[in-house]
Amino acid sequence: MNWLDQRILKLSKLDVYEKSSCQGQLKMNSNENFVIDKQYQLNIIDKASKNCDVRAYPENHSTLINSLSKHHKILSNKIGIGNGSDQIIDLLLAHLTSKRTKILISDPTFSFFEARCKLYSLRTIKVPFSDTMILNLDQLISKFDDADMLYLDSPNNPTGFQFSKTDLDKIINCFDGPVIVDEAYGDFSEYSALDLSKKYRNLIVIKTFSKAFGFAGLRLGYFIANQDIVNIFMKSIQYPYPINSIALEAGKLLLQNIKRLSNVINLIKNERKKMIINLRKLNVFEVFNSQANFVLFDAKDDYLRIYTALAEQGILIKKLGRIGQYQGCLRVTIGTKDMNSKFLLAIRDLLR
Ligand SMILES: Cc1ncc(COP(=O)(O)O)c(C=O)c1O
Repeated sequence: MNWLDQRILKLSKLDVYEKSSCQGQLKMNSNENFVIDKQYQLNIIDKASKNCDVRAYPENHSTLINSLSKHHKILSNKIGIGNGSDQIIDLLLAHLTSKRTKILISDPTFSFFEARCKLYSLRTIKVPFSDTMILNLDQLISKFDDADMLYLDSPNNPTGFQFSKTDLDKIINCFDGPVIVDEAYGDFSEYSALDLSKKYRNLIVIKTFSKAFGFAGLRLGYFIANQDIVNIFMKSIQYPYPINSIALEAGKLLLQNIKRLSNVINLIKNERKKMIINLRKLNVFEVFNSQANFVLFDAKDDYLRIYTALAEQGILIKKLGRIGQYQGCLRVTIGTKDMNSKFLLAIRDLLR
């Protein structure tokens, strides 16, 4: 077999990210934000497209970076942008690691991150979640000497767990190497690690417009890190035109209307609380606390039946199966009040 066939064979054995079709479905499986008003988003796109000449390559992305700099009160030379956080993760892994790099992650963690490590043949060291679905700080720290890089999704996908800020500060302080803190769901939690980036050169915080901003289809992400990393990323690693003109412009417009967003975030957090209470009231599931826009619960040996029956009714949630001692984990994204009620009603009916 020649080298190309060998490589193709190896790649073909990797897990494939399963994208769901969503025609006419209640989409509660990918942690998107359907609470945000669709018409409002369309108006933004409309305005953005009118400000662009798509015959030309996207203009310099510094306008968006400057808006982000103002928004977060962080110097613009510490901000890099990408085609979604996925692309930023991909490029960081592809270019800031070597075959010998060992990456410390939690188990479970964001599945794309793990899949990318596999693609680049990067070794991972996994710290499992405890029986109460939290990460043990000492257990994590005990692995620090074995690893070159640390990745934490904060809050974690799929558990919704987040370390306290004091613990996260300690983690970044103690780890000798880059710490990637993925804050895709940070807006739904109590704090952000962004201000720690002023203190630690080894911290890379990744953020996205896909979740709280409700623009997953736009593919817009950014990260905050020390200026050497940002410089090399933006000048040498990143493509010349990673983000289309309309997304660049829309991102800028979204940041000008930030107040609107806090109502949406509060509504989602409120609905999350209600979702946890209502699922617990059913008295059959183990339901875990969450700092994100989703809730993880263990439906034990009934999880496949529940997952399939919901799907047959057009309600898509995420099937995870075993996590540690919990054998039938399912994850539901918090949607609009109406979506959440439909989901809860359907679950209640299934348990009768
Ligand atoms: C932890 C985490 N990071 C990043 C992403 C992807 O974000 P983006 O849409 O910006 O690529 C997701 C999406 O589900 C996620 O769960």
